[in-house]
Amino acid sequence: MKFKDKVALVTGAGCGIGKAIALAFAREGAKVVVNDVDAGAIETTVAEIAKLGGQGLGIAADVSQAKEVKDMFARTMKKFGTLDILVNNAGIARSTDEVLKRGDACIQELMTSGRMTTSVEATRNMTDEAWDRVLAVHLNGTFYCTREALNIMEDRGSGKIINMASIAGIVGLPGSPDYSAAKGAIIAFTKSVAREVISRGVYVNAIAPGWIDTPLLTNMLTPTFRFVAVTQTPIGRMGTPEEVAAVAMFLASEDSSFIVGQVICPSGGAYG
Ligand SMILES: NC(=O)c1ccc[n+]([C@@H]2O[C@H](COP(=O)([O-])OP(=O)(O)OC[C@H]3O[C@@H](n4cnc5c(N)ncnc54)[C@H](O)[C@@H]3O)[C@@H](O)[C@H]2O)c1
Repeated sequence: MKFKDKVALVTGAGCGIGKAIALAFAREGAKVVVNDVDAGAIETTVAEIAKLGGQGLGIAADVSQAKEVKDMFARTMKKFGTLDILVNNAGIARSTDEVLKRGDACIQELMTSGRMTTSVEATRNMTDEAWDRVLAVHLNGTFYCTREALNIMEDRGSGKIINMASIAGIVGLPGSPDYSAAKGAIIAFTKSVAREVISRGVYVNAIAPGWIDTPLLTNMLTPTFRFVAVTQTPIGRMGTPEEVAAVAMFLASEDSSFIVGQVICPSGGAYG
């Protein structure tokens, strides 16, 4: 077992990619702190970890709230006494019905006339609240959890931090300026912190997946957009959460001992 007796904390581990990562760690012997805002989803993941013969600790907390994050790390330390691995995975994506409708119209226009003259008008219509929430969950959440983790890992001289970015943060996803900005910032944050803390034996890297079939996409994609997303993915399909979890396992293991501040794209060849 690759992670026997290691302690891993995974945010947003109630479903999708985070859940797949939590289960993968448990299969390899790690004790897993399962964080999410959805208490019911936490329970399911913790129950599945138990079925695998693993040990899971569920903690409901909103990663965009510094105090809740602080308390979560305190509970983790109380229960397990240390933290070896942090995966900053929690995330949200939102699109309004209008943007989705205009997106479909843009794709239609592109497919019939070969060029696009309309816009999804996502940025000009975005509210402060929508912008702030996406940045708060992704970017502030990643910062708050990283800060707490470094207070443990820098002092003990080892640790692995894995940040979930996206190809949206590299190429920009039209219609999702908030999400793309947050993911781009997470990539820059990863590179900066990685160079800061590797001297203390703490590894920081990012994963920037392409299209992965999870509940997140129901808020982001119409059937037409989903079709286009697949056609723009050279491998010809969306990825699975388990295919992203495999990259997280690599970055959390000793196999990645010379990988610092990098962004790895499990994307089926899309963009990155
Ligand atoms: N699905 C994709 O195509 C894709 C592609 C690239 C990157 N990602 C990123 O991967 C990560 C996981 O996405 P997913 O597709 O599994 O999404 P998902 O919606 O299936 O799961 C996200 C989980 O995060 C939890 N969450 C949301 N806000 C939270 C908060 N404030 N605090 C704690 N937990 C919170 C949700 O309850 C949910 O369980 C996200 O950061 C996402 O941006 C996803």
